[in-house]
Amino acid sequence: MKGLILAGGFGTRLRPLTYTGAKQLIPIANKPIIFYGIETLIDAGIKEIGIVVGETGPEVRQMVGDGSRWNIKIDYIHQPSPLGLAHCIKISREFLGDEPFIMYLGDNLLKEGVRKFVDKFNRNSPDALILLTRVPNPQDFGVAQIDNNNKVIKLIEKPKEPPSNLALVGIYLFNKNIFLAVDNIKPSGRNELEITDAIQWLLDNNYNVESQEVEKWWKDTGKPEDIIDANLLVLEGLEPSNQGRLLDSLVNGKVVIEPDAIIENSTIRGPVIIGKKSHIIHSYIGPFTSIGNNVIIENSEVECSVIMDDARIKNIEKRIDRSIIGRGALISQTDHSPRTHRFILGDQSYAEIVR
Ligand code: DAU
Repeated sequence: MKGLILAGGFGTRLRPLTYTGAKQLIPIANKPIIFYGIETLIDAGIKEIGIVVGETGPEVRQMVGDGSRWNIKIDYIHQPSPLGLAHCIKISREFLGDEPFIMYLGDNLLKEGVRKFVDKFNRNSPDALILLTRVPNPQDFGVAQIDNNNKVIKLIEKPKEPPSNLALVGIYLFNKNIFLAVDNIKPSGRNELEITDAIQWLLDNNYNVESQEVEKWWKDTGKPEDIIDANLLVLEGLEPSNQGRLLDSLVNGKVVIEPDAIIENSTIRGPVIIGKKSHIIHSYIGPFTSIGNNVIIENSEVECSVIMDDARIKNIEKRIDRSIIGRGALISQTDHSPRTHRFILGDQSYAEIVR
């Protein structure tokens, strides 16, 4: 079975972070989101993966490479414009051939992996196997309506009035009949070929669509809060290790300190990961925080946040909480009069001062 990972699109809901980079490359516990998808597919025995990329293709390629680091083969399929998830299947026809495949949305994380779903698909040979999970906000996802026998009867993309709380997880298994479906549907109101419409076409034409609820956590990292939550969930499973230097510091809980990081006169309370060459001075780093490489944090307190490579945080009086700080960003506080705020924020940045 081949894998198809979707890493195109604009990532509008994650601006300004996605003005300067692909959303699938945002780090969760210091690893780009898309790496979790790739490794999940590899764990299920997949050795050939196609990645659909759009305008951020060059940086995705640069970060991910040709697959040799995982001993697999990765090809890239260019999507000139984000015309929908079903459009991604259409343009990947040549790569996919006639074999069944698993499609994985590059911004999704699934704790339990996909092995058991691949096994189920191979055992039952349906035309499609979709994964479902109950969510409090079904209107933000594709939603499934099921009958009394748990059979899917209808799929609707982001319905205003959801018929159930069963969201479609962004992981789908198909055989070649999905190509018939994508050729027979029309673009939706938002001008996308919707994967929900393609699967609905299979249902309407008596193809066999199976579904299964996932058991552990699933995260679509579409919005900033999702990044913070996904980071928290991944850090919960952290294996502690220390390759850095601790000077007069206190570390407790599950903490990973990467090579050449220096922790000085500070308290680190895990789960926390601190990247290579980062320097924490006279600070407190609280649970569920990921600090990238080459970061400097001085005289400050940070908790439940994602701090990306090369960022600097200096002399901030109040604790920084549930925040995402992009690559190379600087936040500092100085004690001069008059007391003012000075912001240089990119388009659509978000700053909140909580008194
Ligand atoms: O995450 C689950 C949800 O994913 C499902 O419940 C929905 O049914 C499904 O439509 C999808 O909704 P999203 O609004 O989250 O999709 P998004 O636009 O974020 O795209 C998902 C991934 O696919 C993302 O990594 C970008 C990529 N993509 C998206 C489009 C529309 C492409 O590569 N090409 C595209 O044309």
